[in-house]
Amino acid sequence: MQPAVSGYDDCSNRRTSGGTAPALVTAEAGMFERQLLTGMTFPAYQPRLLSDEGVIALTAKRAREIVGLALVERATTDGAELLSLFTPEGHRNRGVGTALMQAAADTCRRAGASAVTATFADDLPSAPAFRRVLMKSDWEPPVLENHIAEAPANRILELPAMSTTIIERIKTRLPPHLLVRWGETSAAQRDALRHRAASSSAIPDQLNPFLHPEAFDDEGAVLLIDGSIRGWLLCHRIDADKVRFTLGWVEPPFAGLGAYALLVRQAILWHLEDMNFSPRAHGSWTVAPEHPAMVRFLKRRLGPALTRLAEVHSARLPI
Ligand SMILES: CC(C)(COP(=O)(O)OP(=O)(O)OC[C@H]1O[C@@H](n2cnc3c(N)ncnc32)[C@H](O)[C@@H]1OP(=O)(O)O)[C@@H](O)C(=O)NCCC(=O)NCCS
Repeated sequence: MQPAVSGYDDCSNRRTSGGTAPALVTAEAGMFERQLLTGMTFPAYQPRLLSDEGVIALTAKRAREIVGLALVERATTDGAELLSLFTPEGHRNRGVGTALMQAAADTCRRAGASAVTATFADDLPSAPAFRRVLMKSDWEPPVLENHIAEAPANRILELPAMSTTIIERIKTRLPPHLLVRWGETSAAQRDALRHRAASSSAIPDQLNPFLHPEAFDDEGAVLLIDGSIRGWLLCHRIDADKVRFTLGWVEPPFAGLGAYALLVRQAILWHLEDMNFSPRAHGSWTVAPEHPAMVRFLKRRLGPALTRLAEVHSARLPI
C-alpha cells in the first residue's frame, strides 16, 4: 500500500546526540501489519483495527521498528475522530506522538474532513503529555465534555445516602408515587412522556429517552406519579457485571426532593437481581457539566463509593 504520509522529520533530533537517530517515518499500516499493532490501542478498538472497519491505522517507524500508532476513524466530510494515540514507553518524549498527530491531520485533510476531534479522560497517566501533544499540534484547547464515575454496586448500597432512614425520609417528601422498571411502563405512559418531552423545555434533549440512539435495558428505574412518568434512570448493560447509568432526570416540580437517590438505589437493586447478585457488579455514570445537580450528586452523595471519578475532555483541530 502506498504510504499515506512518509518522511516526517524526527522532531526529537534536538534530544538525540548529534542528530544520528534514524529518521522517523509515518505511514498507513496494511492489514497484515495491523496484527502486530493490537497492543498499541485500547482493547475496545482492537477488533476494529483487525477488521479494517472504518479505521485508519497510522504507524511511526524508526529503522523499521514500529514506535507508535495513531488510530483514526475514517474521515468523512463531516469530520474525523482520533480514536487513540500511542507511543511505547521507551520511545516517548522524542516527537513520535506529535509526528503521528501531524500524519493524522494530513490524512484527514486529504479525505476532505473539515475537522478532527479527540476525547480523553484526565485520569489517564499520559493525559498531561497528550495535552502537550495537542498543543504542539495546534489543536484548539480541550473543553470539559463529561464527568465519568464508576463504583461497585454493593458499595453504593452501603452509602449513608442509600440508608433505609434516608430513603424513607425521601419517600415521605414526595407525593404518592411508585417505582417501576422501565420495561414495565406501558406504551401509553411512554407516549405521554414522549409528547411532553417534545412539547416542553422542561426535559433537556440530552436526557430525553426518545432522542437516545440505543434502546435501554428493562431494569432501569422509573418514578411514576399519578400514573405518569416523572423521573427516570435508564441504563445499558455493558457486560455480565457492568451497567451504565446512561440517562437520569427528575422533572420539576419533583426535582430537588431526593428522588434521584431512590432511582439509583432501585436501578441498582433490579440490575443486581438480573446479574444474580454478582459480587463484581458495578456501575458507571457519564454526566454532562450542563447538569450541575447531577454532578454534585455524583461527587458528594456517591463520592465515598467511587473507584473512579474523572473528567472527559474533547479537543478539536479545524483543518
Ligand atoms: C500521549 C503519548 C502518545 C505522547 O507520545 P510521545 O511520543 O511521547 O509524544 P511527543 O514526544 O511528540 O510529545 C510529548 C510531549 O509531552 C511532554 N510531556 C511528557 N510528560 C509530561 C507531563 N507529565 N506533563 C507535561 N508534559 C509532559 C513532553 O515533554 C513532550 O513535550 P515537548 O516536546 O514540548 O518536551 C504517549 O505518552 C502515550 O502513548 N501514552 C499512553 C497512551 C495515551 O494515553 N494516549 C493518549 C490518549 S489516546
